[in-house]
Amino acid sequence: MAFHDRPAMWRFLWILIALSTSTAAASAATQSILLPGEEGTEEGFLVESLSGQSCPSPDPLLYYQPVVGIVTHPGDGASGRLSNSTRASNIPASYVKFVESAGARVIPLIYNEPWDILSQKLELVNGVLFTGGWAKMGLYFDTIKKVFEETLSKNDAGDHFPLFGICLGFELISMIVSEDNYICEPFSARNQASSLQFANMSDIRGSVFERFPPELLRKLSTECLVMQNHRMGISPRRLQENGALSSFFKILSTSTDENNEVYVSTAQAYRYPVTCFQWHPEKNVFEWGSSLIPHTEDAVRVTQMVANYFISEARRSLRRPPAKKVRDNLIYNFVPTYGGKAGKGYDQVYVFE
Ligand SMILES: *[C@@H]1O[C@H](CO)[C@@H](O)[C@H](O)[C@H]1NC(C)=O
Ligand SMILES: *[C@@H]1O[C@H](CO)[C@@H](O)[C@H](O)[C@H]1NC(C)=O
Repeated sequence: MAFHDRPAMWRFLWILIALSTSTAAASAATQSILLPGEEGTEEGFLVESLSGQSCPSPDPLLYYQPVVGIVTHPGDGASGRLSNSTRASNIPASYVKFVESAGARVIPLIYNEPWDILSQKLELVNGVLFTGGWAKMGLYFDTIKKVFEETLSKNDAGDHFPLFGICLGFELISMIVSEDNYICEPFSARNQASSLQFANMSDIRGSVFERFPPELLRKLSTECLVMQNHRMGISPRRLQENGALSSFFKILSTSTDENNEVYVSTAQAYRYPVTCFQWHPEKNVFEWGSSLIPHTEDAVRVTQMVANYFISEARRSLRRPPAKKVRDNLIYNFVPTYGGKAGKGYDQVYVFE
């Protein structure tokens, strides 16, 4: 470090002296606190608490080690480039990073595992995410339905247990709630960036959009900041006309496909912390397989705000699962594979077989 003027050098020295005296004073009053579950282990690291320095204590009603369960989707997520096994299922790593980026960890809920294992894993998580994909039948549908029903009953039993349904996840939830497997309609919104038209600004309160800065909300409705990639969807009219769906969901936003047809792009349950997206909040930051995915700073902020909302909901969950059981089931026990080298599809996928 070179100082070309003496005052700057003195300022630097002064800071050094001030720092060293304050650490000396502080360390005399330092207490060592072990993180929960780390007592006596050599990996355990110390968190220094400086007495006299006021760090407001975290909200005791919130949980700061939240874990999200993500249900795997059939196939390898890479058109057979990674695995052709009929047992294979996958989670695109973008959903995992989306959750991790907001301060939570992920436990994969492997859709074709026996239900008693899946239901035990559901006890280890503070919320659930259904990814995009294409599968709408068979065991995958059955698993999604059971996890959805579990989500509602955990909330009915008094927990706050959020669910995000993204793209296919939204379509499946619409099918389950309406009890109509043909409730969705065809739309032309493959590989397309779009805006969001907010249905009613007074519904923004208490929704995923609540903490968006007004200027970003405005841009969301005028610029193409979100990524769409779907052939199916539901029109606002069809949702409103279906009694079960219209009493379950309020429409937060709509978007327009390539043929100017309007579909519901974001919806939120009235009575449950369930938010559904026809668009892909995870892609703006973590997927590169299409040149149309928005990667501007505003688009990145959209991803970050949506992830923050999801995990802020998961922190409200009352579940405090045993740390070791959580670690045994975390996605860190698996290694993602680079599937995007072909220049298309998901960049990284976790494959389970
Ligand atoms: C899966 O099958 C396809 C078509 O036969 C083949 O090209 C591909 O290499 C196979 N994938 C793996 C991982 O073996
Ligand atoms: C907007 O939402 C509020 C509160 O949910 C409701 O009272 C109002 O009627 C809605 N306005 C329209 C135009 O739907």
